[in-house]
Amino acid sequence: MSTLGTIVVTGGAGFIGSAVVRHVIGATDATVVNVDSLTYAGNLESLADVSDDSRYRFERVDICDFEAVRDVFRRHRPDAVLHLAAESHVDRSIDGPSVFVRTNIVGTYTLLDVSRAYWDDLEPAARSRFRFHHVSTDEVYGSLPAEGLFTEDTPYHPNSPYSASKASSDHLVRAWHQTYGLPVLITNCSNNYGPYQFPEKLIPVIILNAIAGKPLPIYGTGDNVRDWLYVDDHAAALHLVLTHGAAGETYNIGGHVERTNLDVVRSICSLLDELCPDSPFRPHASLISFVTDRLGHDKRYAIDASKIQRELDWKPSETFESGLRKTVGWYLNERVWWERVLSGAYRQMVGESSNGETGQRAV
Ligand SMILES: NC(=O)c1ccc[n+]([C@@H]2O[C@H](COP(=O)([O-])OP(=O)(O)OC[C@H]3O[C@@H](n4cnc5c(N)ncnc54)[C@H](O)[C@@H]3O)[C@@H](O)[C@H]2O)c1
Repeated sequence: MSTLGTIVVTGGAGFIGSAVVRHVIGATDATVVNVDSLTYAGNLESLADVSDDSRYRFERVDICDFEAVRDVFRRHRPDAVLHLAAESHVDRSIDGPSVFVRTNIVGTYTLLDVSRAYWDDLEPAARSRFRFHHVSTDEVYGSLPAEGLFTEDTPYHPNSPYSASKASSDHLVRAWHQTYGLPVLITNCSNNYGPYQFPEKLIPVIILNAIAGKPLPIYGTGDNVRDWLYVDDHAAALHLVLTHGAAGETYNIGGHVERTNLDVVRSICSLLDELCPDSPFRPHASLISFVTDRLGHDKRYAIDASKIQRELDWKPSETFESGLRKTVGWYLNERVWWERVLSGAYRQMVGESSNGETGQRAV
């Protein structure tokens, strides 16, 4: 059970954030205040299972808006902040980096500033209990050769506008601890996959294209290696670090699941061959199509997650095989969710028409 009364979760309408909100509501007794501006990546329909819970609140707020964020803190008096709101797609950061600088760097700065002023005024017991947990990525460490793993001591070497903006925000969070004593935690996680992922990232793009008999575009030769973690394992790890991690520490989170992109796509195709025996597109691997590589494409990421395992006794509960089977099954069963994303109908929840940009690109 959580020892925290109220947790502000930023980005709670996104892929990982919604898994965190579902986890906290379902597995703890804490109240969640979901602070999300609902960009194209925010989808309140991902929270349908918990949105009627008396411990769930939603605030449509931009994390760059100092006054609005301060007002959220004044009204909800959080015991902790779990900060996930971000622009998160590498390809979008290459096409248009400015919103990444704004949200990921200025937004994190704004939250830190509000949190510090709020924390300064807390009573001693609440002050020592308060935590600011920043959720980051392994991409800040750059690219690995064929051997080696990212540890918490690996020097930062971000290569894309996305990873550079996340690295900047990590540095700000660390500086707010060193300079002002704000009790922060940072986690750097490998690639996530699972239910409710927006269909612009590798795994959902491949599943949905394959179901529709569309080409499965793969960057380069598909030999880039990523380390995969099932999203619910990440959500549980985040709550564990938030409640039991040591302030000022960084924890790497990963599943020790290295796969080339081509291996991932082939695994999805085999699962679909098995689960959709009547599909006219079998064998789905025949849809694979290689396209020009992404600019500055990092070769390999791999996480050493031994610190969180050793110090907090965490390890993932899903293997890649079990997690991928669950994920493919979820997309086959939850057509309404992703059809409303692809059509743009999910934006009607927030009174907007579709932007229709699901980014069906190479992966
Ligand atoms: N997806 C991954 O594989 C992965 C891996 C490691 C770390 N991360 C990090 O985890 C976090 C969540 O990733 P995700 O994949 O769930 O992202 P996502 O793109 O699915 O969701 C981001 C959420 O943030 C919200 N948001 C964006 N800008 C905002 C703003 N200015 N104010 C308030 N809300 C805003 C969006 O509406 C959306 O709900 C990010 O910080 C990301 O860097 C992601």
